[in-house]
Amino acid sequence: MSDRTPFQPYPVEHVHRLIEPGPVVLVSTAVEGRANLMTNGFNMPVVHGGLIALVLGPWDHSFDALRRTGECVIAVPGAELMETVVDIGNVSGAEVDKWARFALTPVPAAEVGAPLVGECFANLECRVADRRLVDDYGLWLVEPVRAWIDEERRGAGEFHHRGDGTFSTNGATLDLRHRMTRWSHLTA
Ligand SMILES: Cc1cc2nc3c(=O)[nH]c(=O)nc-3n(C[C@H](O)[C@H](O)[C@H](O)COP(=O)(O)O)c2cc1C
Repeated sequence: MSDRTPFQPYPVEHVHRLIEPGPVVLVSTAVEGRANLMTNGFNMPVVHGGLIALVLGPWDHSFDALRRTGECVIAVPGAELMETVVDIGNVSGAEVDKWARFALTPVPAAEVGAPLVGECFANLECRVADRRLVDDYGLWLVEPVRAWIDEERRGAGEFHHRGDGTFSTNGATLDLRHRMTRWSHLTA
């Protein structure tokens, strides 16, 4: 085996940048009639068609709303909203009405008190399903109870945070459904 490899050491404290999940989403909450929005990049599906994990910490004003109501909307913005979404993640709803500041439209949800985001191409109405990891990691397991999509607005699709303030959009979509032989039930 060669002792020369193309690999350089990579700082362990930055490894999330290599597997940064995504897409970057907006989390909408509402408490006592006051709606808020925050930007979230640490999220992932946990169960097919089921639970989603979201990291949302006590440094966020939204944390208290999620804790009190147990409800949120995960809204998926298209790449055209990238700059707005970053700006939303740099101000607190404790100080600013972000809906007004960023000219976003709250749309009533069907099942939860938090509004959908009219400008996002997909909106998932969610209820908190498991809080066991919240105290240790700010990690919430939420269950989508209703979902909405505007295919026309989907356009170029979602975007992803590379963990260091740089972002990527999607490249070409490749259809490998025929190779998902063991998982064909997921491709319907
Ligand atoms: C690109 C980006 C990604 C972010 N991802 C997260 C995240 O995954 N979890 C989190 O708690 N905060 C995240 N933040 C920070 C929150 O969006 C930020 O604290 C926001 O101001 C919270 O708003 P709030 O105080 O009104 O709840 C992110 C910010 C940016 C700009």
